[in-house]
Amino acid sequence: MAIERTLSIIKPDAVKKNVIGKILSRFEDAGLNISAMRFALLSKDDAAGFYAVHKTRPFFNDLVEFMTSGPVCIQVLEGEDAIKKNRELMGATDPKQADTGTIRADFAESIDANAVHGSDSAENAAIEIAYFFPSMNVYSK
Ligand code: CMP
Repeated sequence: MAIERTLSIIKPDAVKKNVIGKILSRFEDAGLNISAMRFALLSKDDAAGFYAVHKTRPFFNDLVEFMTSGPVCIQVLEGEDAIKKNRELMGATDPKQADTGTIRADFAESIDANAVHGSDSAENAAIEIAYFFPSMNVYSK
């Protein structure tokens, strides 16, 4: 299986709940390395640029509002099959549909305040990682 990188964001709801460490442990326990990490308080332009792919969706303005409501903690995760593995760890976008034991089932409140974001493809992972991290700031084991 290929070693991949994926972008992960611990969203404002989970940062406010003080569960950053619990969420990071899920990644490490699943064999993913945290290869880069930073906090950010996103501006409206930062959030809108990151989620540009969703700009015509009805939830876009609420999404930008929510993502700028408090600090986020952003990581690059690296490991075998990292993109799929992280999506399995996160669970379904809507926490009501998320499998028991997933991050969203355990820590999320709603489809808007859903605790974490994870890249959905290798192509988007590369774009999303470059959006937040210069390559010199991403470590490889
Ligand atoms: P995320 O994985 O960060 O990608 C886009 C976000 O939009 C998603 O998580 C949700 O938090 C939010 N969102 C709100 N409503 C919807 C919806 N109907 N479908 C998909 N995403 C939604």
